[in-house]
Amino acid sequence: MQTARSLTDLRAVVAGWRDSGQRIALVPTMGALHDGHLSLIATARRHADKVVASIFVNPTQFGPNEDLDRYPRREKADAALLVEAGCQLLWLPDVAAMYPKGFATSIRVSGVSEGLCGGVRPGHFDGVATVVAKLFNQVLPDVAVFGEKDYQQLAVIRRMAADLDFSLDIVGAPTVREPDGLAMSSRNAYLSKEARETAAAFPRALRTAVTALQNGDPVAATLDGVRAELLGAGFDAVDYVELRSAEDLQPLAQLDRRARLLAAARIGGVRLIDNFSVESEKKIAAGA
Ligand code: PAJ
Repeated sequence: MQTARSLTDLRAVVAGWRDSGQRIALVPTMGALHDGHLSLIATARRHADKVVASIFVNPTQFGPNEDLDRYPRREKADAALLVEAGCQLLWLPDVAAMYPKGFATSIRVSGVSEGLCGGVRPGHFDGVATVVAKLFNQVLPDVAVFGEKDYQQLAVIRRMAADLDFSLDIVGAPTVREPDGLAMSSRNAYLSKEARETAAAFPRALRTAVTALQNGDPVAATLDGVRAELLGAGFDAVDYVELRSAEDLQPLAQLDRRARLLAAARIGGVRLIDNFSVESEKKIAAGA
């Protein structure tokens, strides 16, 4: 695996591949890699000849009271995992390369970035959209892979890529989970042993709600039930539990189309997010 630390080096490698007709995939990350990230590399390999992974802890997507400074940084271990996963190029920009002096541009994707995580983390998706647009322009990939774990982020990036005529395919990859169902996340490392055990209640409550919704239970009461279950299990707060349309993230009061159940909750000072698909066929068939 090659490593590029300057835009000049990155572009030289990628241009060589492009000239020889190779299809290029990009997997953007903030490092502290786990099996969720590595599954994206595997997906990228199925879609392209060459895989570029980027690691950049992007300051513009962190709020003033968030964990930018303590976000785990493990460059050597990450590089070893990427080699093993079959990645060909690691792009490691530093903050000065990504945001040179005088940087003044921001991309805001309205609609899909509002509410959910965008409501709780103001400006977060502007930071994500801006850095991802830059990564697209730097690497010029044919395809870029993102996890469904961050479902709203995936929707924001799809919208931005379509709106700004980025000439690439956006591929979403399923969430990789721990054996007890908790979605893998670099932030799980912050959880105490006790909080980590309690955290398993999060995907469990959501799965139970998915089944209830698919069986025709009323939406509002089911979402209230998830909140109560999480607080009862020991979560400190529930930021949101919402049913949204799977395509454009419009709020849904009824399960009348393909939907997504999305939630964020806090435990032991750590904010966890997760989401599940909710299929509407049963409801429609039952109502027909
Ligand atoms: P990061 O949190 O490092 O995640 C990088 C990619 O890995 C994202 O596409 C995310 O959805 C995916 N991912 C994380 N956990 C996953 C899991 N358990 N299963 C499957 N995929 C998972 O998301 C970001 O970084 C940043 O916002 C970024 C897009 C790099 C822009 O800075």
